[in-house]
Amino acid sequence: MKYHIVTFGCQMNEYDSALIAGLLEGAGLRVSKNIEEADFLFYNTCSVREKAEETAIAKISQSRPLKQKNKKLKVIVLGCMAKNKGEQLFEKLPFIDHVIGTDHYRQIPEIVLGAKANERVFTDFDEKENYDGTYAQIQNPFSTSITIQRGCNKRCSYCIVPYVRGNEKNKDPLDILAEVQMSVEKGISEITLLGQTVNAYKKDGETFASLLEKISEINGVKRIRFVSPHPRHYDDELISVLQSNSKICHHVHLPLQSGSDTILKKMRRQYTAEHFLSLIEALRSKDPFYAVTTDIISGFVGETDSDFEKTLEVVKQAQFDNAFMFIYSPRIGTESYLEKEILSQEQKLLRHQQLVEIQNQITSNRSQNMLGRVEEILVERPSSKDPSEWMGKTDNFKKVIFKPTSTVSPGDYLTCKINEIRGWTLRGEVLS
Ligand code: SAH
Ligand code: SF4
Ligand code: F3S
Repeated sequence: MKYHIVTFGCQMNEYDSALIAGLLEGAGLRVSKNIEEADFLFYNTCSVREKAEETAIAKISQSRPLKQKNKKLKVIVLGCMAKNKGEQLFEKLPFIDHVIGTDHYRQIPEIVLGAKANERVFTDFDEKENYDGTYAQIQNPFSTSITIQRGCNKRCSYCIVPYVRGNEKNKDPLDILAEVQMSVEKGISEITLLGQTVNAYKKDGETFASLLEKISEINGVKRIRFVSPHPRHYDDELISVLQSNSKICHHVHLPLQSGSDTILKKMRRQYTAEHFLSLIEALRSKDPFYAVTTDIISGFVGETDSDFEKTLEVVKQAQFDNAFMFIYSPRIGTESYLEKEILSQEQKLLRHQQLVEIQNQITSNRSQNMLGRVEEILVERPSSKDPSEWMGKTDNFKKVIFKPTSTVSPGDYLTCKINEIRGWTLRGEVLS
């Protein structure tokens, strides 16, 4: 029997798909690279914006002809949209077999192969399910992500995540360290820790800072990254570890959302623009090349011209290395969904475009600043444009394109001099 998993959404869904792959392999199933040859087809979905759900529904609909060809094929919808839409999904997608939320993945082998095959919907939250003792299958030979925290205890007024993923659950530190250890034994050298407010991690006397230190002590770990920290959960201990521990990369993805304190308050973000900027200043005080990327929402309900101006102002001050910029998408069930929108879709789009234009210039300037620097890069893969060239990433998460001077493999570390910037892309000459 063969399975195929299609994943949408964030890195946590990627992790969960790898976890499910591990569970299925344990039950004797094998992966099918070709979707047409699968006996079980899984779609791990996202609900964060309306567009994410539309994309998933469109993609899942495409599997209908496969089901007509192979009557035994089972199509299973997993993840955030599974929880969000539940039973309703059978109306839109009448050919699917099961809808499974994030707390029921351990039962998947049973659901698809045996005892629970007749039940269709598994979407309750299970406060106790933290996937202890289960580990994601390694998907990539040199870098892996590990979810250390599931769910979210914040209730940002626009966000659906807590409603589809449940309350925050922190993983047992010993389990996390075991997963890191297993990963390095398989050749992994870069570890990315995942959580919706990952720096709020606390469990069995361990803080996020102390966990980072323990992971850095494991032989074989060379680079540590994490996503997403919340601006509210930095303290001096954490900032000092981030600056002094040489294995923790100098890149942070720190979501701003808005630069207006009025909007931040309405969003229930629990910080001010000033606090946000002070964190960037602290992180860059010892290393001006410390990369900061972010998420920003344009056109949040109630956002005035002057609120939006403040976002542009903070963006200019923050000098983000890059940003994911979104147009506000009202989500049923969230607090801000209940508020009447005044902005039209065009107005929201216009703000978004203005923001993108300003940020693109900053992104390009931040890349330009890298010219002439000597950087260690972690080699990832041949370049998609020209296979005689390869791509690797710097410690501060910038892609570098280079021509190898001898054989290279994914996972190698090389020293490169950045000698050209094309657009945002850094090009390097291999020194060693
Ligand atoms: N836990 C992270 C964010 C996870 S969701 C944090 O708190 O920062 C990823 C991003 O999607 C968010 O940072 C936000 O910018 C965006 N997002 C979430 N809900 C949204 C909505 N309703 N409309 C538009 N963007 C949204
Ligand atoms: Fe959503 Fe806020 Fe939680 Fe992030 S911190 S997942 S934006 S509720
Ligand atoms: Fe999407 Fe769920 Fe992640 S809503 S962003 S896949 S936590």
